[in-house]
Amino acid sequence: MTNEDVNNDLRLSPKDMKELGYRVIDMIVEHMESLQDKPIAKKTDFQILEKLRNESIPEHGNCHTHLLDQFESDILPNLTHADHPRFFGYIPGPNNFISIMADTLVSGLNIFSGASSMGPGVTNIELVTIDWLRQIYDFPEEAGGLFVSGGSMANLTGLAVARHIKLLDQTENTVIYTSDQTHLTIIRGLGILGFKSKQIKIIPTDKQFRIALPRLQQEVKKDRAEGKIPFCVIANAGTTNSGAIDPLQQIGEFCEKEGLWFHVDGAYGAPALLSEKSKSLLKGIELADSLVLDPHKWLFQPYEIGCVLVRDRKYLKDTFRITPDCLRDICKIEQEINFSEYGIQVTRSFRALKLWMSMKYFGIQTFQNAITTGITLAEFAEKKLRESSCWEIVTPAQIGIVTFRYIQLNYDTGTIDRLNEQIISEIIKEGYALLSSTVLDGKVVLRMCTINPRTTQNDIEKTILRLEKYGVELSKS
Ligand SMILES: Cc1ncc(COP(=O)(O)O)c(C=O)c1O
Repeated sequence: MTNEDVNNDLRLSPKDMKELGYRVIDMIVEHMESLQDKPIAKKTDFQILEKLRNESIPEHGNCHTHLLDQFESDILPNLTHADHPRFFGYIPGPNNFISIMADTLVSGLNIFSGASSMGPGVTNIELVTIDWLRQIYDFPEEAGGLFVSGGSMANLTGLAVARHIKLLDQTENTVIYTSDQTHLTIIRGLGILGFKSKQIKIIPTDKQFRIALPRLQQEVKKDRAEGKIPFCVIANAGTTNSGAIDPLQQIGEFCEKEGLWFHVDGAYGAPALLSEKSKSLLKGIELADSLVLDPHKWLFQPYEIGCVLVRDRKYLKDTFRITPDCLRDICKIEQEINFSEYGIQVTRSFRALKLWMSMKYFGIQTFQNAITTGITLAEFAEKKLRESSCWEIVTPAQIGIVTFRYIQLNYDTGTIDRLNEQIISEIIKEGYALLSSTVLDGKVVLRMCTINPRTTQNDIEKTILRLEKYGVELSKS
């Protein structure tokens, strides 16, 4: 299997490059075309995993065909496909081929997107794509943003801006408010930014899992009276658990009145603004000082691309600008936008290309329709679940997520929790579809997230029938 043709300059012959490239493209196309008929994941082969884990350093080169053979035999079968139409767990990753090709170009040409002088067209594409998002979310003209690796980094970046602009990085005695449904990556990010857990006030949610506004207002008042410095409210535009959207308009107005920074985590739900079905639910998102969205979720992009928008693009530069001596030649013109000065990363890839190309290829209307499809599919799932008395709907379908629970009248809550956990294990073991569970109000619930526009009603119906079959069988055993 060793490769005698390996050169010390790490080059491949054009023939080998093409052979490798065509086979990779063939694999991707085959994957996309056959996914619907394949299981979501095969049974994990622990022997293969063990073999991979213990491979020694390759002393000599391997033939390129061997690498792809090994990928096909050892890695591919152990993958769980988040882009599968019956992947309903966590947040699905329904990407698109145009963006895959854009990513290939970006890495093929190794495009650096940190300094305008290295590729003014590159900077302009990031600027215009950010500006499209700015327009969609109705942010003011001076607003700006940047693309980062995903939602966690986008929230961290937005909150670092908040800390700098509002507090000049002095965090002592300050308080941040957010709900008990907020994604834990945000809490982790706040820790990284130097906030202690006692400075993060977790506000309970109402019956719809939206932050309890009166409680938020009371806590801010109380903290001020105690001499603390309320500083920021983090609201959810679509929680991961249930798709709940906090009352953004009221929170935005409250923050404005109280002089608080208003950060919105729309990593899951912000794209729902593009659908006429849910647009009104996100009213008030435009009031955010910083807004996070995550194109690698519901804007159909391959991993990794997250985005943060801030009300004034100069906030980013004020927070992050450094000009190391070694970059003085490429970052010397003040008016030029150098994205390495706008965020945490200096060497950064050209993430904007995939979103830009796919928005141009499909057009915004196609994105709107695809998002509406996801919302409608969750409503369809809810309708099907309601047809059977086995299921309790815990949260009705909202922006692509429905949560529910298999119930048995004579069982206590703990037993029902375990039953639902077992249903998840069974469906995952079978490999036909994948769902994940979460905890709402202290109860284990099943959660179906239906944002893949390639999912069919038939996929949903068959999945629910299987879940029910497992519920019936397990409650007999
Ligand atoms: C609401 C919300 N915020 C933040 C995140 C973190 O985003 P990422 O996984 O892209 O880092 C997620 C991920 O699921 C999310 O759903």
